[in-house]
Amino acid sequence: MVLLMDQILFSRVRAALTTQIFGRNLVVLPRTGSTNDVVKEMAGEGAPEGTVVVAEEQTAGRGRLGRRWLAPPSTCLLFSVLFRPNLPCPQIPRLTMLCSLAAADAIREVAGLEVGLKWPNDLIVASGSGWQKLAGVLTETGVVGERVAFAVVGVGINVNVSLETLPALAPDATSILAETGREVDRATLLATILAGVEARYEGLRAGESPHAEWAARLTTLGQRVTAMTSGGPVTGMAEGVDEDGTLLLRTPDGALHRLLAGDVTLCAC
Ligand code: BTN
Repeated sequence: MVLLMDQILFSRVRAALTTQIFGRNLVVLPRTGSTNDVVKEMAGEGAPEGTVVVAEEQTAGRGRLGRRWLAPPSTCLLFSVLFRPNLPCPQIPRLTMLCSLAAADAIREVAGLEVGLKWPNDLIVASGSGWQKLAGVLTETGVVGERVAFAVVGVGINVNVSLETLPALAPDATSILAETGREVDRATLLATILAGVEARYEGLRAGESPHAEWAARLTTLGQRVTAMTSGGPVTGMAEGVDEDGTLLLRTPDGALHRLLAGDVTLCAC
């Protein structure tokens, strides 16, 4: 069943693609460890920019901070995109920003679902006074000396995951199906995301930064949050994000903390 599903998905994505570069070198696998690892290996073998690897199932899917990324087979979008950007290391988060924006736009266009962004790399849906996680982005780089030889942006979106299955993924997980009550064609969604990635990447190469748009979509800003850092939790006001995605957190003592990575939760404090 899963074996057939990957062939169907491949044909449907190919038919729906409107891009020149992104997804033109397309691999759809029935099952793999992690699509990020497959793309990294392909990058080392000289795969072209825009290569996309999709999996119907991952046996070792991972998220940031060493977490596992769980997804039931053939119900989600699990894919990784290869970039060969001419960017210095600190600007690589711009790829995460542009892919997050492209995914959020595509979900709105294809599923009619309004999605927010949560620093640093989550796509979320507002629920009551909180939020639930719909998707995550994991960016990894291959660096040679001072130069970024390639970057792999992996995206996991809970698409047609039923309400009953969601608790097995994560306590705060949601899906497009759970939010809208309707299944979405994953091929159309992927092709729409890749069209957005290509358009935004062209802009980036022409010198535009996705920072302002990304910052405007971050639900985290202007809120009191607790950030989990390697040094422990830090609570303060999320004042902004700089050009390279660093979160600027003002603590009650007036100090401004610059957080490069971590997790934030809203707090009632
Ligand atoms: C996160 O929220 O921490 C990021 C999750 C990223 C998951 C995707 S699924 C496709 C790609 N392959 C992986 O192993 N991870 C990313």
